[in-house]
Amino acid sequence: MPQGLAGKARMMFPLFEEYPRLRERLPRVALAKLPTPVAPMLRLGEALGLDRLYVKRDDLSDAEYGGNKPRKLEFALGKALHEGRRAVLTFGGAGSNHTLATTIYARRAGLGSIAMLVPQPNAHALRRNLLMSLLRGAELHYHRGMPGVVIGTLWQLLRHRVQDGRRPLLIPPGGSNALGVLGHVNAGLELKRQIDAGEVPEPDRLYVACGSMGTSVGLLLGLALAGLRTRVTAVRVTARIYVSGKKARRFFHGANRLLHAADASIPLLPFPEARFELRHDYFGEEYARYTEASMRAVRLARETESLSLEGTYTGKTLACLMGDAAAGALHGKAVLFWNTHTSRDFAPEAAGVDYHALPAPLRGYFERDVQPLDR
Ligand SMILES: Cc1ncc(COP(=O)(O)O)c(C=O)c1O
Repeated sequence: MPQGLAGKARMMFPLFEEYPRLRERLPRVALAKLPTPVAPMLRLGEALGLDRLYVKRDDLSDAEYGGNKPRKLEFALGKALHEGRRAVLTFGGAGSNHTLATTIYARRAGLGSIAMLVPQPNAHALRRNLLMSLLRGAELHYHRGMPGVVIGTLWQLLRHRVQDGRRPLLIPPGGSNALGVLGHVNAGLELKRQIDAGEVPEPDRLYVACGSMGTSVGLLLGLALAGLRTRVTAVRVTARIYVSGKKARRFFHGANRLLHAADASIPLLPFPEARFELRHDYFGEEYARYTEASMRAVRLARETESLSLEGTYTGKTLACLMGDAAAGALHGKAVLFWNTHTSRDFAPEAAGVDYHALPAPLRGYFERDVQPLDR
């Protein structure tokens, strides 16, 4: 083994290495730099009274955007290219990380990107994402309600069909469907290799943000395939209609069936009831509305570990972990915080973009105050 790699898990994409038949059957564009590091958080652990607290640094999954996005988009964009599409169309809140990341990675794959956006509470991060979307060439459409999104989507699909000769591939909100889950199935296998290499103990508990459920359910399936007993705590940050046990089962079995159909040596697994927990108690008032607890968690992560989190997803997730630690529920346990947020700072680049170039209804976000907790 080369010097410096001893004890480190060396890998590229364990899902394909362990099941080579998948490589031919599931088109994938490699976007993420894998494996992402896993590291102890000694100072944060000390502050919370936890001896074995770790972080999975998916914030470092790629320099251009990162977070949970490259893993999510590898198979969707692979499908788009395989089918000869010219563009993808997807959905999100006005400041969506998902639509911005889709624009960035679609462009890398040579595809155009259309974003159907809906209102959300105002924030500096929202403004930055909008400006970066503009800069990276997203086609942005904004609708205030679901009927507008549906009609607008049908119109854009038709318009692009005529203009480009091909209908854009529709990627669901958050990139989550059976295919979008696969990147995080691989992440579960990646973690198993890091455990085997001694980089992290097998976590008793794993905390991860849950918006459209692809990340948490993909991990659950990957961990189950890897034979790990880790309990996944998925912290809901979106409205209840987007997150449920029923949807978790649908994604879990859908992704499992997809894999099994491509390689029959992959077993069909029962849904691991006892190892999946959905948490609703850190949601606050609404999606993307910061809470005092999430902002406390963001500050503590920055002060103790120089970790850059945000109020919509990862702050609420760490707040849940902190609440459980304070209640004594994590005493003596190995705990892993899965960081899904990009650590790329877009502020300098976004500062050079004029918001007046945005479609008129989106300019309001630059002319109204941000929410009070966004300091
Ligand atoms: C930073 C961040 N964390 C977590 C999530 C939620 O992941 P999922 O939609 O797969 O549940 C998102 C959104 O998609 C996100 O942008």
